[in-house]
Amino acid sequence: MCGIVGYIGKRNSLPIIIEGLKRLEYRGYDSAGVSIINDKDEIISFKQAGKVNKLEEALDVDKFQGNIGIGHTRWATHGVPNDTNAHPHYDMDKNIMIVHNGIIENYKLIKNRLIEEKYTFTTDTDTEILANLINYHHKNTNDFETAVRLALLEVEGTYGIACLCAKEPDKILVARKGSPLMLGIGNEEILVASDASAIINHTKNVIYLEDGEMAALERGSFHLKTIEDKDIYRNIEVLDFLLDDIEKGGYDHFMLKEICEQPDTIQNTYRGRINFETGVAKLGGLDSIAEKLFKAKRIIITACGTAWHAGLVGEYMLEHYCRIPVEVEYASEFRYRRPIISTDDVVILISQSGETADTLAALREAKKFGATTIGIVNVIGSTIAREVDAGTYVHAGAEIGVASTKAFTCQVMSLALITLMIANEKKTVSHHDLIKLAKELKQIPEKIARMVGMKDSYKEVAMKFKDAKNFLYLGRGFNFPVALEGALKLKEISYIHAEGYPAAEMKHGPIALIDENMPVVFIAPKDRTYDKIISSIMEVKARNGVIIAIASEGDDNINSYSDFVLRVPKTAALFAPIINIIPLQFLSYYIAAARGCNVDQPRNLAKSVTVE
Ligand code: G6P
Repeated sequence: MCGIVGYIGKRNSLPIIIEGLKRLEYRGYDSAGVSIINDKDEIISFKQAGKVNKLEEALDVDKFQGNIGIGHTRWATHGVPNDTNAHPHYDMDKNIMIVHNGIIENYKLIKNRLIEEKYTFTTDTDTEILANLINYHHKNTNDFETAVRLALLEVEGTYGIACLCAKEPDKILVARKGSPLMLGIGNEEILVASDASAIINHTKNVIYLEDGEMAALERGSFHLKTIEDKDIYRNIEVLDFLLDDIEKGGYDHFMLKEICEQPDTIQNTYRGRINFETGVAKLGGLDSIAEKLFKAKRIIITACGTAWHAGLVGEYMLEHYCRIPVEVEYASEFRYRRPIISTDDVVILISQSGETADTLAALREAKKFGATTIGIVNVIGSTIAREVDAGTYVHAGAEIGVASTKAFTCQVMSLALITLMIANEKKTVSHHDLIKLAKELKQIPEKIARMVGMKDSYKEVAMKFKDAKNFLYLGRGFNFPVALEGALKLKEISYIHAEGYPAAEMKHGPIALIDENMPVVFIAPKDRTYDKIISSIMEVKARNGVIIAIASEGDDNINSYSDFVLRVPKTAALFAPIINIIPLQFLSYYIAAARGCNVDQPRNLAKSVTVE
């Protein structure tokens, strides 16, 4: 949520910052801005509503020369996305310039105090208040670093910040609490960014800041400390992904690239984690808490958005195959309803980014009650990954498209592996069936590849619905969460209203919406709910609804009930969601692309929501 990038070194900073902002734009993109310290040691700044491309076009490149600078791409929280509220923000005296991710919760209190000190404000943002608070402390201490530290000690809420000071024009100060920030350590240069994609083109050597830490960056050197003023020494970590991983690679959109990558990403999730001869799964990252997991009285899964849908699939899997009671909870609700959590509970947190504020807060709540916490996370080194008791990385690779696709299937695969691991230990699945499931698992990448090969057939159907106003998605059992996820994908990127329901619930409300203008997607593979799904299809047909069936290869029976059929390979129930979501991802992608929507950066959304 919002992107920060900064540079200090010997090169001209503007191109590095602009390139970084473009890579970070998937985190937020309603306005953008940069501030540079020029060779006269002045801070020059430019910001405006709209995307980074627009900013780049409007900037006077000749003027913006200098080898220290900071930039920001915004997802609005306080104040509408206009030129004024865009970052960076100055204090009243134009001494401190700051970019900020997060929310200053006690901003009103601080503002009132500063007003008493005769401070004035020109924007609606909480960030401007922080800039003025730093300026206030700078006036009293005459030391930039101390001023930032003292200001942050007063702040309640979350922040990732990078700031410049006109009176000390040779450094950048950065700090983090609840909003990710990392340093990229290059050759006589240092970068700072809210995620690795902005850094990777320049260096792979990074240092992750922890909550409550700050860093002073100078040309070629830096030092870390806590905001309580304790020095910190931390080892440099080496990023292990390539620039190619975050480029479009010939695809029109990241989302399409990421959908098509799934044969590989799924394989990356299970590689080395399952023995195909015995069917035994082993996740090294869970070793330390395996006993707790096997003995868990209850598993609680908590997450947001698409990851929550993966969690719902997990509930079906773990209850069906492991016979452990599971509850799935929106992370945002979890801690506010005084959850009853015991030390015998295992809480699984699922998050692509590993930074979602509500999921992180749920993790901390669970830990407070002494539950064992497990992370299923994609972004390596992210906050959730670091704070859980144990975890497993899904290894989906960088996911740039705001609508999550490959991370979802990898999350579900991770849950399947956990299911197999527990089922083996608890003997809730026979040895013979475990081997069968493992054999099936091995075929999943090839089956997804087959669907990727059929994408034109999915596109053909999508084209018929590009002007639809509403959509209904229905599924049962393991495919109910797939219906929810299919509907979410469509509404996120095409802005078509779409709802997902358990198929049988249709009779209790949604059926009232059905007429000849209502496309209904049935997830109807040949499984144990097939006959019931056919009954629901008949009910929609009887009311002139338009049926799009996701149906198993070879199921000709369904043709006579459906207007359109999207074929999927057959698989075991455990893996059905991974297979059946693929045509739905394509369907939403092609519909959104045909409507001319910005598929990778849908309006109002952000990839990583680091505010509560
Ligand atoms: C945002 C994204 C969604 C994502 C959700 C949870 O809303 O737009 O695609 O599913 O956050 O994100 P996480 O990183 O925790 O999986």
